[in-house]
Amino acid sequence: MFESIPGLDADPILGLMAAYRRDSNPAKIDLGIGVYMDDNGKTPVMAAVKEAESQLLASQQSKSYIGPAGQAEFNERIAQLVFGSDLTASLGERRCTFQTPGGCGGLRLAAEFINRANPNGKIWVSDPTWPNHVPLLGEAGLHIESYPYYDQDSHSIRFDAMMAALDKAGPGELVLLHGCCHNPCGADLSPQQWQAIEELALRNGFTVFIDLAYQGLGDGLDEDVYGVRLLANSLPELIVVSSCSKNFGLYRERVGALTVITQSAQSQAAVSSQIASVARGIYSMPPDHGAAIVATILGQPELLQKWDSELTQMRTRINNLRTLLVERLARAGVARDFGFIQQEKGMFSFLGLSKAEIASLINDYSIYMVNSSRINVAGINPDNIDYLIDSLTTLLLQST
Ligand SMILES: Cc1ncc(COP(=O)(O)O)c(C=O)c1O
Repeated sequence: MFESIPGLDADPILGLMAAYRRDSNPAKIDLGIGVYMDDNGKTPVMAAVKEAESQLLASQQSKSYIGPAGQAEFNERIAQLVFGSDLTASLGERRCTFQTPGGCGGLRLAAEFINRANPNGKIWVSDPTWPNHVPLLGEAGLHIESYPYYDQDSHSIRFDAMMAALDKAGPGELVLLHGCCHNPCGADLSPQQWQAIEELALRNGFTVFIDLAYQGLGDGLDEDVYGVRLLANSLPELIVVSSCSKNFGLYRERVGALTVITQSAQSQAAVSSQIASVARGIYSMPPDHGAAIVATILGQPELLQKWDSELTQMRTRINNLRTLLVERLARAGVARDFGFIQQEKGMFSFLGLSKAEIASLINDYSIYMVNSSRINVAGINPDNIDYLIDSLTTLLLQST
């Protein structure tokens, strides 16, 4: 049966990681992989997570099954984190939240659920978007169409073109938006732009689907969900998938959530039963440990504060690195204006380099990034910044 199955090309990011590991240059820098790294180039376990884990180890009495929706405490507390307590209360029975195996599990669960409600429907995704959106949503049966989002030349959002494209989306179609810290470009919608999308969604009747993978890593826990809360407050229906991989550093534990807001409380029972049935057909029940950690942290004011201040440190570090990178490149005499990096949010930005420049950075300087020139800003640290600036300066002075 397996003798004639064709092999597939390696995933470009995994291929890049393997090439980085093989590289013997002691000065090598990894700006490719999308995980937060600290000043030592490490992705540590947060102290609040360690503390919650030790509490769980001491107190957990059972490893029995938790059910397809996961833990009720996790679902309630993650909804409060995303929507805030007032909005969560006012949404009441119009909202259901399912614990999922990471944001990816939530995206796939949502896509399969949408496909049951509206088989082979269309979902509009930004150009560019996180490449995994394509298999996660498309392989569930949704048709993917893209709308213009980021202009590589002006390093800004093509908002008029985006709105013109989305004006074609109507009832039964979905529009996927990044809640904050757009991956890969880092360019986020302003409050005015979110308001314009709110008006368009109300007028045209499409359903908004928000992927929220970086809450707290842009401007702040509340600031980063301005758009999510605006739309949850006014649209009749909304889908939000949130991830705890980055903001709790729980990547391998697989913690996320799918929230579906319906127009009426009456439809929730049907919606929940369908989502539970989809989960049963894929993974049955989500893993518990990571979600139990998040529920523990969010349920104790002291732990919550500890986590919040660690997250603030991470965010501040990223934003300071953005400023430092721009200043150091300008000071080194690089003529190209990289000021846009300072305006962008979260871990990612495009450097805006040509394919030849990216290849040279990897092959001649051992500086690794994906072939769109997306960099993970958090991969920069005090030990590698001088080498990074020197290399970029040499390369960019050569190519001007
Ligand atoms: C835009 C976006 N959505 C969702 C995810 C989901 O991550 P996870 O499945 O690890 O929670 C990621 C992770 O990189 C992401 O960048």
